[in-house]
Amino acid sequence: MMKNVRRLALLLLVFALTSCAKDAPQDFLEPEGAYAKKIDTLQKPVFIIAVFVALFVFGLVAFAMWKFRERPGDDHDELPHQLHGNTKLEIGWTILPALVLAAISAFTLPVIFDLADEPDEYLAVDVWGQKYWWGYEYPGEGNGQYGIESAGIRTANELHIPVGVPVYLTLRSNDVIHSFWAPKLNGKRDVVPGRTHHWKLEADVPGVYSGQCAEFCGTSHAFMRLKVVAHDQASWDRWVATMQAPLEEPASGLAAEGFELFLQKGCAGCHQVDGQFEEVAADAPAAPNLTKLFTRDCFAGCIYDLNDRNELEAWLRDPQRKDGSLMVIGELTEDEIDRLYAYLETLR
Ligand code: CUA
Repeated sequence: MMKNVRRLALLLLVFALTSCAKDAPQDFLEPEGAYAKKIDTLQKPVFIIAVFVALFVFGLVAFAMWKFRERPGDDHDELPHQLHGNTKLEIGWTILPALVLAAISAFTLPVIFDLADEPDEYLAVDVWGQKYWWGYEYPGEGNGQYGIESAGIRTANELHIPVGVPVYLTLRSNDVIHSFWAPKLNGKRDVVPGRTHHWKLEADVPGVYSGQCAEFCGTSHAFMRLKVVAHDQASWDRWVATMQAPLEEPASGLAAEGFELFLQKGCAGCHQVDGQFEEVAADAPAAPNLTKLFTRDCFAGCIYDLNDRNELEAWLRDPQRKDGSLMVIGELTEDEIDRLYAYLETLR
């Protein structure tokens, strides 16, 4: 008995402690944008109501268990007094929850419609989910003042946005169902093959917001992360300028050899490098777009650090180090890896 009590206490402690992380990067209880805050102001009162309902119901159950417990000397042959229905109580416990739910839905419905609305002015971004990474394209259509400047930018894994600007995402999947989720900026939105879904993001303060795929999609579902990088205006202008500046083909040295090798090994058959390799359809690249790769911090679904040369070299040595990776490159010599790295490093 005591052993079980101790086990239960330990289990509860584990649950309590795991919910105690300070500054957790994906804590939806600390929203940092207009849409996430709308959800937050809704869920807080609903949670409080739920707590009162739970206390009331569990309190009644505990009271009944205590009041009608077995006592020494109870006659086990005698049946307890038999009850059949209580109309007043039954009407009460049907109507009361219905009223509570109706009240909650009266506040919830406007928020659902509000979150689904296309904003009046926005920056548009097309998002593709696939096993196991995210692709982004800035069509430059947008509405109002935010549309034009970013036209034609393509990137992967890291989504860059300006702060204080509604971002309107168009979500599509190239294979199975994924779900786009940046918890501090908004709720989840499913990304479904054959369908086009929309979702919105807005960040109030500059920073890096981490997120992930929230729908089980295969072996590396847990490694399908994403980052949303929110820039202030000056930093956003710089990012756009960098992304739109044409890439120079490496003219000589190791990087030029790597450029040749990138072509020989067939890398360009799947990886697009705008201005250099564009044999792949823009809307369905088989692999992440590598344009300005070295302006990013992470790769392969944002699970590896791009600033760590060892990580990228390990990836080139064995792209299967991430389960379910579709990349096939064959065995490379260390010399070839050096050349490829030298070329990739020029993508900035
Ligand atoms: Cu994509 Cu889970």
